[in-house]
Amino acid sequence: MKIIMLGAPGAGKGTQAKKIAEKYHIPHISTGDIFRANIKNGTELGKKAKTYMDQGLLVPDELTVDLVIDRVGQDDCKDGYILDGFPRTIPQAECLDAALEKRGEKVDFAIDVEVPDENIVNRMSGRRACVGCGATYHIKYNPTKVDGVCDACGEKLVLRDDDKAETVQKRLGVYHDQTQPLIDYYTKSGVLKEVDGTVDMEDVFQAIVEILGA
Ligand code: AP5
Ligand code: ZN
Repeated sequence: MKIIMLGAPGAGKGTQAKKIAEKYHIPHISTGDIFRANIKNGTELGKKAKTYMDQGLLVPDELTVDLVIDRVGQDDCKDGYILDGFPRTIPQAECLDAALEKRGEKVDFAIDVEVPDENIVNRMSGRRACVGCGATYHIKYNPTKVDGVCDACGEKLVLRDDDKAETVQKRLGVYHDQTQPLIDYYTKSGVLKEVDGTVDMEDVFQAIVEILGA
């Protein structure tokens, strides 16, 4: 099963992708997480990606596409995977489709998690990310057992650099300009499924499971 998660920044793609990956035993591939890991490790890719991410801009396709195409060609992706944060532009989607077609494969589901812009800024300001393992929480909607400490690994939690209110506004603009056209793209290819992302996390998950099948 090859699944793509679509939706605005902060719509809950990462939260749901993690749960789907666990339930269906497929890898969760998040380009945002890959870039953040590279930034943390001080790689060349990380240095380049950071200049764009900090401004709320997309990392150029040249730095993004090959990385994902290589990753989905690895052995653990044979039975499927969930892509979170990719594709984000029409050229990225076309490159993915072309690469899959060469292997006689295709995207099975593109799940659009719908959350209006008004809700997004509120969500992002309350999001906290673990510096150790990257796990994501929310101070109100998904709090940790001990304030400011990751449940999974015990490291501290921080506000992501790109979650400041002005950067969030910029990311929303970029989303509407460059990523939202993918909704039409995947509607045309017949794989788009929409879910209401404003309800409780567990209810969003149940709606997705209904689409994917138990
Ligand atoms: P990326 O990490 O992909 O960020 P994003 O798409 O902006 O998405 P987020 O991670 O911010 O949000 P999410 O939808 O995963 O929401 P989450 O589950 O955390 O990308 C970051 C940057 O990397 C980009 O700006 C770009 O520069 C670059 N990049 C990445 N991929 C790229 C690509 N393909 N091409 C070019 N550049 C790329 O949830 C948000 C918060 O809400 C959390 O606190 C969560 O606990 C809470 N929450 C979730 N669901 C609910 C719910 N139902 N109710 C209440 N709260 C909820
Ligand atoms: Zn952690």
